[in-house]
Amino acid sequence: MKDEIAVLYPNETVSTAVLRYCREKSIPLPEHIYKHADLTEKELGDKSEMMVSKLQAQYLLWTARSLGAKKILEIGCFTGFSALAFAEALKDTEGAKIVTMDINPETGAIARQAFKDAGVDSFVSLILGPAEETLANLVSEGPFDLVFLDANKEGYVTYFNKVLELGLIRKDGILIADNVLKKGLVADSTDVNPNVADKIAGTRVPYLKEFNDLLASDKRVETFLLPAFDGLALVRVL
Ligand SMILES: C[S@@+](CC[C@H](N)C(=O)[O-])C[C@H]1O[C@@H](n2cnc3c(N)ncnc32)[C@H](O)[C@@H]1O
Repeated sequence: MKDEIAVLYPNETVSTAVLRYCREKSIPLPEHIYKHADLTEKELGDKSEMMVSKLQAQYLLWTARSLGAKKILEIGCFTGFSALAFAEALKDTEGAKIVTMDINPETGAIARQAFKDAGVDSFVSLILGPAEETLANLVSEGPFDLVFLDANKEGYVTYFNKVLELGLIRKDGILIADNVLKKGLVADSTDVNPNVADKIAGTRVPYLKEFNDLLASDKRVETFLLPAFDGLALVRVL
């Protein structure tokens, strides 16, 4: 097979069918988490695009369980959708702890209510404030087994360095960074990519390139870039 060709996505119809099929055949999220995503879409409109997709949330649940993670750190909570998926993964784990953070108090209030409604607020906590400051105050809470990086893209390099330098992730811990391919623009932002029309996405590209370059050269980690969703960097700490 020629690995340059995206055999699974020959056109929009087949792509939609493939993704729907994968959702159906993958570990499901409980109904209340899907409902939370639907509610976020209804109430926040276009802003809800910040959430990971439903299939990606299923992937996060599967990954957290498969790694046997007990402690998870999330940078970028929004209304709590991805954190709820992590909470589902850890809900029967003794001593489980999830710390998530965000700068936005409005969406933060929605997330906190969702954690309460789901009955996971005993082990999921949201810290409000700029991630850089929050991370600096988390040293006594670490190290975490899994870190999910999904906040402002211009902060990725700083957050990654802080997580490593402050020992917030354990050896062999996994950091997952979202959106590292940004609509394919990170790999190709010429006019052949129809997403060049998305000017906001374009402004994130230099930060993501710098981040991916750092991951590829940093001797503290081993990285695999997964061309799924909006691009995931899967990073193992050595
Ligand atoms: C892509 S969304 C997170 C989505 C969430 N992980 C989910 O899937 O439901 C990114 C979030 O990062 C937050 N954010 C932006 N700048 C931040 C900063 N400096 N510190 C902390 N959070 C920040 C935004 O408020 C936003 O809610």
